Amino acid sequence: RKVLMRIAVGSDHAGYEDPPPYYKPEIVEYLMSLGIDVVDCGTDSAASVDYPDFARKVCASVLCGAAECGILICGTGMGIGMAANRYPGIRAAVCATPDMVFLARDHNDANVLCLGKRVLTLDQCKAFVDLWLKTPFGGGERHQRRIAKLG
Ligand code: RB5
Repeated sequence: RKVLMRIAVGSDHAGYEDPPPYYKPEIVEYLMSLGIDVVDCGTDSAASVDYPDFARKVCASVLCGAAECGILICGTGMGIGMAANRYPGIRAAVCATPDMVFLARDHNDANVLCLGKRVLTLDQCKAFVDLWLKTPFGGGERHQRRIAKLG
């Protein structure tokens, strides 16, 4: 099997929140169906956990090069996105519309996509993943300059 890329995926218990579908395993399976290697950083059940712990695992995978980018899921995407953006070099984007996904890649060269289980349907999440994967960083001096200022 030709591996196109590696993506680290993590969630808190919202990734296994009833009623099914369970977003974390569904998104892992979806990525694998696209030929993407997944670094599954957990969690693996509905037991209550703390989103910063899973943000840390995914960010570590991205920063060490084990994965090219990351996908994080919590109830809203916000808590886990706040946690991810504490790590220099991580540009985590909480996305709630297709435009946000497109611009996160095109302008911000975001390397972590944050999704809210209680905000988006699973089909919307999959569509966001498709758009994320096919949208390159637009580049350009002004965007490069601003990203450089993020540190
Ligand atoms: C967990 O109940 C919930 O607070 C968390 O998943 C997330 O939405 C936080 O931002």
